Amino acid sequence: MQRDRFSSRLGFILAAAGSAVGLGNIWKFPFEVGQGGGAAFVFIYLIFCFVLCFPVMVAEIAIGRKAQLNPVGAFKALGYSNWVFIGYLGVICGVLILSFYNVVAAWAFGYFIDILFGHFLSGEIAFNEFVSDYIKIGAYSILFMGGTAFIISRGITEGIEKAAKIIMPLLLIMILILIIYALTLPNAIEGIKFYIIPDFTQITGKVIYSALGQAFFSLSLGMGAIITYGSYFSKDSNIIHSAIAITLMDVGVAFLAGFMIFPFVFYQGIETTGGAGLIFMTLPRVFEALGPQLGIIIGSLFFLLLSFAALTSTISLLEVPTAYLVDEKKIPRKTATWIAAIIVFIIGVPSLLSNGAIESLTHFVTLKGAGEKSFMDFIGLIANDTFLPLGGFLLSIFVSYVWKKENLNKEIALGTDGSSGNWVEGYVDIALTYICPLLLGAMFTITVLDNFFGISLLNRVLS
Ligand code: PHE
Repeated sequence: MQRDRFSSRLGFILAAAGSAVGLGNIWKFPFEVGQGGGAAFVFIYLIFCFVLCFPVMVAEIAIGRKAQLNPVGAFKALGYSNWVFIGYLGVICGVLILSFYNVVAAWAFGYFIDILFGHFLSGEIAFNEFVSDYIKIGAYSILFMGGTAFIISRGITEGIEKAAKIIMPLLLIMILILIIYALTLPNAIEGIKFYIIPDFTQITGKVIYSALGQAFFSLSLGMGAIITYGSYFSKDSNIIHSAIAITLMDVGVAFLAGFMIFPFVFYQGIETTGGAGLIFMTLPRVFEALGPQLGIIIGSLFFLLLSFAALTSTISLLEVPTAYLVDEKKIPRKTATWIAAIIVFIIGVPSLLSNGAIESLTHFVTLKGAGEKSFMDFIGLIANDTFLPLGGFLLSIFVSYVWKKENLNKEIALGTDGSSGNWVEGYVDIALTYICPLLLGAMFTITVLDNFFGISLLNRVLS
């Protein structure tokens, strides 16, 4: 059977940008900015997106497109069966990320519904009550995972591409409406100043480390989502141009998100260092303060935006195990999708219960360096902070030292006018050989030593 494909370059770009743009951009990015001292963090994040992540994105698209298979099959198809473990690592990582990402997506959707009905859920107590209500969150999680599976089961063009083509433009419109509104609030200018005027004294090792992790997560790299999407990408499309477009869109949305969040935050004079709760605990307070009618409109619009952004990412996450089951186990797409969705949902149940519902999961482990973590935070640490940089590190090593740059460049040259060898391509080669393995290897090492062994390289060397 012919492999299903994106019908156009735009379709691929929107789907991949949809994967990239997610909770990471709208929920995580602003609070990382808040904790990382504002514009200085943004500045470093931008550098990492282009210098480090863009080359990895090119490599992932090229591997996927060359092999025309899921991450596990891809390494076999290229002739390197010894390296399939990178593919397995990717599939496992995708499953783990989706298992808790879907829970946060369910929070966003639940907030949308509650605010729509006039319950603002503002403040910490309301948040804690909300996330520990496992029946409600369970129901929203099933709904979210079910919606994701429904879209994927329809295939690449009819499912993934169509959804991206509808959701991505809507997302942009919603963000613009919210920014315009946010900028009219008193103190908006203070928020913008905090956001865009860098104070370089704020740059510490920790800020650099978080910016790196955020950039990599935000571009959906290191776990095979982009390899999988690349496998549905037409041979006569330009990889470099597409990767630039995807990176720009992702960075663009993250950057825009700050222009809506910080005016909101400064309007209420709320601490910018609110952490993970910045979006769920503090923003509803702002929406409530806008009064019942306006608050409902702006608040529900915001959480609808967050849910949509999450949906195009959950789609790409679920597509990884699905493609694996379809290609490697020869299971029909519809069945494969639902099997993957059910397995991931079950793996996510402890995460769902680890925010107050069950004590032992809420206080799951105490790590030497990282201290106490809930089950959900623990999985986040393993998948996002440990496996993703490890996957990216191994992938760069594979491409530059095993598959070799000639093969990479051959794949990149397809869909161009043949005058290969421009400086961007030259940069990609150099980055994958030196910069990416070095930075990603460092990130992996720092994470492991810091969190699991309590040896903080960041404090010793970089601050
Ligand atoms: N990039 C997504 C976000 O920013 C998350 C994601 C990570 C999606 C890895 C797919 C793969 O929310």
